[in-house]
Amino acid sequence: MPKVHFETDNLIVEVPRGSKIPDIVDECGATLPFGCRMGSCGTCRCIIVEGMENLNPKTNEEGELFDTLTSVGDAERLGCQLVVRGDVKIRS
Ligand code: FES
Repeated sequence: MPKVHFETDNLIVEVPRGSKIPDIVDECGATLPFGCRMGSCGTCRCIIVEGMENLNPKTNEEGELFDTLTSVGDAERLGCQLVVRGDVKIRS
């Protein structure tokens, strides 16, 4: 099973492939705040330290929101839009 490493909490959890990050955070209590959970508020903006290739591609919602923001790095994603396909390390 894929491992999700929440760097901020130094917490590593194993999850079934296809798990959604909001569900994982709800269960394990990692520090990653959510607001809308629909890709429109930006509260869940986070950095993928490792494993971007093990996440779903950026969603339309992420693209639309990031287009309105400045200084968005290539490693940034919206936590509420992420689906785990392999090992990943996330910094909130
Ligand atoms: S919680 Fe609003 S964009 Fe993710």
